[in-house]
Amino acid sequence: MGSMTKTDNANLELKVELRRRVLKAARFRRPLRVLDLYAGEGKIWRHLRAEFKLAGYTPCDIRPRMAGTLKANVTPLFVEAIASGHYNVIDIDTYGEPWATWAAVAHRIHQRAAIFLTHGVVGMGQTSHMALEAMGIPHAWKIPVKPHIARFAARFFIVPEFVKLRIESAWRAEAGNATYYGLVVSPLDKAKPPALSSAENNG
Ligand SMILES: C[S@@+](CC[C@H](N)C(=O)[O-])C[C@H]1O[C@@H](n2cnc3c(N)ncnc32)[C@H](O)[C@@H]1O
Repeated sequence: MGSMTKTDNANLELKVELRRRVLKAARFRRPLRVLDLYAGEGKIWRHLRAEFKLAGYTPCDIRPRMAGTLKANVTPLFVEAIASGHYNVIDIDTYGEPWATWAAVAHRIHQRAAIFLTHGVVGMGQTSHMALEAMGIPHAWKIPVKPHIARFAARFFIVPEFVKLRIESAWRAEAGNATYYGLVVSPLDKAKPPALSSAENNG
């Protein structure tokens, strides 16, 4: 049927490698302060801590399985309460869709940051109401339950609506039911204004 076993780290190597590449490419001048919103057993960051110097690491999970984990149901309200803007690395390695959490995080980004998202296609490829809404599709419509629709929806969420963010660089990796994204973002206000294209210059 349409169920998917929730496997925490089926692609641990891939997840670690994605983060390694993004962090190396980002060349942050500031110390890394990591907010790991779905920390689980903390396997990903246990690997990365051995390679990168972290100035801070805050693990959160609804079912803590690692000493020091903040027990929390991660909701947009929680993201606000935890002052996520203080962190420059935010890991959203959830099951299913990361979009609501990412939108809440994105609204609070005030500095250059690396973001990691896991998008797991649930069941046969269910697309959430939130995703359908963003695409302007009424809930009542019977759209095909297909993984590629859920994946297509992703492009509506990578840059959340009404958020002034510039994506400096982005990585994507796919394995099984999951797509992994790594982004380096900066607040648009602090970024240089985009250069006019030659057509606009001539016009
Ligand atoms: C894919 S696992 C994370 C694996 C982890 N990144 C690691 O390195 O081991 C997803 C985690 O999300 C947690 N989770 C699921 N829903 C949550 C929620 N609403 N709030 C907080 N944590 C949640 C689960 O308990 C699980 O530990």
